[in-house]
Amino acid sequence: MSANQRERDTSEVRSRPHHTVTRWHEMVTVSPVMHELFELVRRVSRTTASVLIRGESGTGKELVAHAIHQLSDRASGPFRAVNCATFTPELLASELFGHVRGAFTGAVRDRRGLFELADGGTLFLDEIAEIPLPIQAQLLRVLQEKTFVPVGGTEPVHVDVRIVAATHKSLRREVERRRFRADLMYRIRVVPLFLPPLRSRPGDVEALIWHFIDELNEAYGRRVDGISDQALKAMLAHDWPGNVRELHNVLEYAFAVGQGGTIHICDLTPELRGEGPVQGLDARPMTALDLERKRILDALSQANGRKGQAAEMLGLSRSTLWRKMREHQLS
Ligand SMILES: Nc1ncnc2c1ncn2[C@@H]1O[C@H](COP(=O)(O)OP(=O)(O)OP(=O)(O)O)[C@@H](O)[C@H]1O
Ligand SMILES: [Mg+2]
Repeated sequence: MSANQRERDTSEVRSRPHHTVTRWHEMVTVSPVMHELFELVRRVSRTTASVLIRGESGTGKELVAHAIHQLSDRASGPFRAVNCATFTPELLASELFGHVRGAFTGAVRDRRGLFELADGGTLFLDEIAEIPLPIQAQLLRVLQEKTFVPVGGTEPVHVDVRIVAATHKSLRREVERRRFRADLMYRIRVVPLFLPPLRSRPGDVEALIWHFIDELNEAYGRRVDGISDQALKAMLAHDWPGNVRELHNVLEYAFAVGQGGTIHICDLTPELRGEGPVQGLDARPMTALDLERKRILDALSQANGRKGQAAEMLGLSRSTLWRKMREHQLS
């Protein structure tokens, strides 16, 4: 970053506002909708009801699942999480239910699955809409009878596991499309919780900017205490499709490329600086899906095909990137 570029941002420097910020189970917010959600989380945690969390990528679904566990009477038991979208059907069955030696090629010894490992605690099933139908049947059985049979096994195993599930899709629509069992949907969606996207939580972008600045100051040994008006405005105007994770990554980028005590517009990612994809005048207008596909391809090429790095750049979790690549048929 040249001194020249830095000098071009001569806008006023903003410092931290004096709002009261709530920090609850790792979640930072000033938004009334989030406070309502926290209250609901407190209430359902006391019960054993199955909870389905809906929300876009990066909105904090895993943090909510963890809060439910910690507030429940299972807090001293294990908490396990699995992303159902990142396994082939065979591997997912073995991940969830375990397998016995010789169940399939490569199964050289017995292996315990997540249901056994989460016994007495909570199992967080992320991206539950991606579970293949045959495994949905097995899942229903654990929920109804609290037993399952490991892959290749014959003896049922008894467990006591609370399920918290999450999805960014409408399960009802998946049921209509016959991709999800209705009986399983009713079973896991006893209490639906909705995590609003960052763009509809007024005040949260600014509160989270300062929260992440504190964390990054600590991690990088820097003392950022201001943001230029121009940079702040750009961040407030952005619609954050990758939600809190994307915001965190933008600030991490700003810490990596910037210097001194102020974050300037030139320290933000190209997208925030308004240097997003440019279209030819006569080109067909790009749809949101085209844009997403293009962003993914750009990030993958910049990261030389390394998915972890590309996910970071896009502000997505690796599993979300993996899923989106599948949706866009990018291998
Ligand atoms: N309100 C918040 N305050 C502080 N950090 C947050 C908040 N919400 C999310 N985060 C952070 O943002 C990141 C994404 O959160 P999390 O993994 O819970 O999202 P998710 O909804 O499960 O995303 P995905 O659908 O991509 O799996 C994590 O690093 C988390 O710690
Ligand atoms: Mg998650």
